[in-house]
Amino acid sequence: MISADTKIQVDNVFKIYGGNAGKAMSLVQAGAGKSEVLEKTGCVVGLSNIDFKIETGETFVIMGLSGSGKSTLIRHFNRLIEPTAGSIRVDGENILEMTAAQLLAFRRKGISMVFQRFGLLPHQTVLENVICGLTLQGVDRREALRRGMEQIEQVGLKGFENRFPKQLSGGMQQRVGLARALATEADILLMDEAFSALDPLIKSDMQEQLKDIQARLKKTIVFITHDLDEALHLGDRIAILKDGELRQVGTGADVLFRPADDYVERFVRKVDISRAVHTHGAFTTVPVLRSIEATEERCAALLLDAPGLIVVDGDGGQRVVTAASLGKPIRTVSVEADTLIGQSFPHLQANDAIIVTRGGLAVGILSREMVFRTLARSARAA
Ligand SMILES: Nc1ncnc2c1ncn2[C@@H]1O[C@H](COP(=O)(O)OP(=O)(O)O)[C@@H](O)[C@H]1O
Ligand SMILES: [Mg+2]
Repeated sequence: MISADTKIQVDNVFKIYGGNAGKAMSLVQAGAGKSEVLEKTGCVVGLSNIDFKIETGETFVIMGLSGSGKSTLIRHFNRLIEPTAGSIRVDGENILEMTAAQLLAFRRKGISMVFQRFGLLPHQTVLENVICGLTLQGVDRREALRRGMEQIEQVGLKGFENRFPKQLSGGMQQRVGLARALATEADILLMDEAFSALDPLIKSDMQEQLKDIQARLKKTIVFITHDLDEALHLGDRIAILKDGELRQVGTGADVLFRPADDYVERFVRKVDISRAVHTHGAFTTVPVLRSIEATEERCAALLLDAPGLIVVDGDGGQRVVTAASLGKPIRTVSVEADTLIGQSFPHLQANDAIIVTRGGLAVGILSREMVFRTLARSARAA
């Protein structure tokens, strides 16, 4: 059975491109790889025996080199591509069994896509572009305009609603694409290399914005990239494809520190851990207590399960308590969660621990020992 938390379930999906799919399928099922199948049948193996689940509310990243099958896979989710074999369920329903009318409704309201090249209508204003999906849904025009403006604000484009796409920078055009996808209020956002065409600075801007939006709206996002830094930054989990085969599905820490095979290991080896690891795998979430709750007894009990505690004083000051420090103060500094480990090194020279905050609120700690442990693991993997 499918758990309530599963949004998209992919079961044994194969996609063969070309006219001899039957023969190609038997070869693939007998264990033949992409190049052998191409040689023997002239068919391209787009996907081979893909099996995984995407949880509701997660940002799921699909990674792989060009030609590995990323676009082929994501296009199965809204049935722009039909599989040669296998099934895809969304909210438990096999989308391959949908009637034409159900499919239409699903594409309009259940799932929306942001494209790499923005896909905007050049002769329509920003606002018209944003609401075009709503117009298709038959939403009343006033309501559509209201929702359109809301999304334009959401992506920080207020004041630009009457401009035309070519009057905007690439980053702004992609915000329009994002606003359009959000306007349909679909639970699932598909983003196929949506940020790949953007300049690095604008790209990192867009990543922050997407994280912001995701924190507020909790969509299920399927995000394709060939950029591992981007994958680690955005993904709750990452899937790595090679030649149409799924090599690993796991958290950023999983693929970095526990690669499933040599291919994944080589794939992630290039990452400079000090630049790639933010919150992923490095800091530990710990209990946060108000100082009036932080009796020695209570702290000692909590420290049986946690490597440390954060105690917040009445005036908002924060300190860290560890088993070793019970009683004596330890030197700490606060750093935002998305700070790179590399940037936190200087702080660790002068302090014993870093308090990791999100929007100023303490969420975890990063000690010198934890940083060393993280780096040692990555050194072993490299
Ligand atoms: N319409 C098609 N006809 C034949 N082969 C295709 C078609 N679309 C994609 N392919 C092939 O399928 C493989 C996966 O392509 P694609 O999903 O576009 O990869 P990616 O998005 O990872 O770059 C590639 O070998 C590509 O050449
Ligand atoms: Mg692609």
